[in-house]
Amino acid sequence: MAVGAEQPEKAGASIRTRHLTRSFGTGAARIVAVDDLSLTISPGAVVALRGASGSGKSTLLHLLAGIERPGSGELNVGGVDLGRATRRHLTQHRRRVGLVFQRFHLLPAMSVLDNVLAPVIPLRVSFDKVARARDLLAAVGLAGREAAAPTQLSGGQQQRVAVARALIGSPALILADEPTGSLDSTTGTEIMDLLLRVAAEWSTTMVIATHDEGVANACDHVITMRDGQITVDEPAQSA
Ligand SMILES: Nc1ncnc2c1ncn2[C@@H]1O[C@H](COP(=O)(O)OP(=O)(O)OP(=O)(O)O)[C@@H](O)[C@H]1O
Ligand SMILES: [Mg+2]
Repeated sequence: MAVGAEQPEKAGASIRTRHLTRSFGTGAARIVAVDDLSLTISPGAVVALRGASGSGKSTLLHLLAGIERPGSGELNVGGVDLGRATRRHLTQHRRRVGLVFQRFHLLPAMSVLDNVLAPVIPLRVSFDKVARARDLLAAVGLAGREAAAPTQLSGGQQQRVAVARALIGSPALILADEPTGSLDSTTGTEIMDLLLRVAAEWSTTMVIATHDEGVANACDHVITMRDGQITVDEPAQSA
């Protein structure tokens, strides 16, 4: 099944960090969430990020998304130096990033269609926003549910809405933080299949933080973190 309509730019973002560090707090309370981390991810790669709770996975995703600023070191995503980017460039960067979270983060007062549209509402874009949102909802298997409220959908359906929302801005990079963590294993596998199809068809780079070994092995590459550092960086078992 085709993921959907047009993807205007078929190019995944490259990722390069060198000695990237991000800490929180000061003095004795200082926590180094990402510690002197150097990694390279090629455009279009699908990478799993593993590691115990508190190892720095979400912080790294937030840095890649341009939500957190680096403390020190280099952080380059899609050719943008996020350590030195102006606020305007950071905003532009965030628009090329699709985010998927464990708990869906849909807006409960808005319809399914409006949730998908939300990221592009304030933007001037070259495509028909509503038509694209409908196409994406159809592509994730939710045609006919546009007017529903998120609470009327199952967890798996809500995560499909979140995936459609992540795709509406034609992301060069999709960052998913435990996207199957709130789903049963069958539904989780369906969501992973959907994300992998997107990455394959659109050549989108994808980084997926996960505690699930099955999810990790479905990716091309697995990076394992401990205490903010990379301990393993290798092709996935099944790759
Ligand atoms: N905004 C923040 N303020 C203070 N400390 C933070 C903040 N964000 C993260 N941390 C700390 O940084 C460390 C890494 O947290 P992070 O959320 O990145 O881990 P994680 O690998 O995503 O964990 P989990 O698997 O539980 O989601 C933890 O010690 C956490 O408490
Ligand atoms: Mg986390």
